[in-house]
This record gives sequence, structure tokens and C-alpha cells, in this order.
Amino acid sequence: MRLRKKHWAVPEMKENPYVYFEGEEYRGNWQEVFQNTNGIHMEIGAGKGHFISELARRNKDINYVIIEQDTNAFVYACRKIQEEELENVRALPINAEKISQYFDEDEANRIYINFCNPWPKNRHKKRRLTHPRQLVQYKNILANNSEIYLKTDDRSFFEESLEYFKENSFLIEKYDFDMKLEEYPENIVTEYEAKWRNKNIPICYGVFRNIK
Ligand SMILES: C[S@@+](CC[C@H](N)C(=O)[O-])C[C@H]1O[C@@H](n2cnc3c(N)ncnc32)[C@H](O)[C@@H]1O
Repeated sequence: MRLRKKHWAVPEMKENPYVYFEGEEYRGNWQEVFQNTNGIHMEIGAGKGHFISELARRNKDINYVIIEQDTNAFVYACRKIQEEELENVRALPINAEKISQYFDEDEANRIYINFCNPWPKNRHKKRRLTHPRQLVQYKNILANNSEIYLKTDDRSFFEESLEYFKENSFLIEKYDFDMKLEEYPENIVTEYEAKWRNKNIPICYGVFRNIK
């Protein structure tokens, strides 16, 4: 079922100083945006923003840029950031396929991808956020030795993603086909993760290092 478009979402986001609709102009200058030299971490497909707001609260010494193309969900993430005055977060309402237009080479230090659409049909796999055509872009914008963190409920998507990371010379630092909460006390449960955990669906987790 398709959710009806929230026509108030974009106007509300345009009034929000943490949201950049013209984010290309900050390419190469993100540290100036945050006015510090802290590392830049991203979440791609941030949804309603529960994960990032908790992470940003815990780590004031990291800058976060969150990316999401669905304004229906993202408006809530942006509202949270503004209400909590999370000065270490900025939001880009964009399609991640264009990420290289927003970040320069080596500009970022980490990417989180949580429960992205698995796109199981062959003809749709190019849309995956872990597809090699995305990994090539991540490799370029991430500094040497930085990581991509992936969580998903979809095991076959995860297994194919492991291959994509290998083929694109990322080092598989860690992977787990059943991420038990008690073994990961630092884990922040996302909106979708809560849904799958409530149904006892195992969560797959991987960390991939960018070696240039
Ligand atoms: C299943 S939801 C998960 C949301 C959240 N990360 C969570 O774990 O609760 C996947 C999100 O990824 C976003 N997404 C998928 N492809 C994207 C793309 N190419 N660019 C930006 N966002 C994307 C979708 O719009 C959707 O909000």
C-alpha cells in the first residue's frame, strides 16, 4: 500500500535550518558547515530518524549528515533534529544515487545503512544501496580505512551484499547472520529493526572497511 503524499512535508522541511535542499554547494566544505574538524559520518535511508537522533546525542564530537529520499518519513527525522537542537546533524533530502554530487573525495569517515530496500528482482538490483555502482561512489567519498555499517533483515540481500563488498575490495571486518541484542549493547534499534525483531526475524549485521 502506498502512503498518501504529505503535502506539508516539504514546506515544513524548507523552514528547518538543519535541512539543505541545495546541498551540492557544501561539497568539499562540510567541516565548514559544522565549524569544526570532527569526522563526518552519514546515514543513508534514515527514515524517521530514531537511529540518528540517538547516535548524535551519544556522540557530540561526530558530525552526521543524513540522507533520505522519502520526504513523507524524513520530515519526522528533520523535526526531531530541530526540536532537540542537534547541532551535529544536517539533513539532505536526496536520492543517494547522486551522493558524489554532495561529497568530495575522502570527505566522509563512515556510512550507516539500516534496513534498506532489498530489491530482490534482478531487474531492480541496481537500486540497492549496496549495489556496486553505489559502492564505487562510497569508496571515493570515504577516506581510506573508514567503514560502512550495514544491518538488514533480508539474508539473501545480505549474502549478495557481502559479495559486492568483496568484489569492490572492501575488507569484510565483521559479519553476523543473527545479531543478538545482548552481544551488541551499543546497538541502536531502528524503527524497521524493532518491527523485525518483534517477529523474531534474525538481523544480519556487517562492517566493511574501505581500503584504498
Ligand atoms: C525500509 S526503510 C528503513 C528506514 C530506517 N533506516 C530504519 O531502519 O527504520 C528504507 C529507507 O531507505 C530509503 N531509501 C531507499 N533508497 C534510497 C535512495 N536511493 N536514496 C535515499 N534514500 C533511500 C527509503 O526511502 C526508506 O525510507
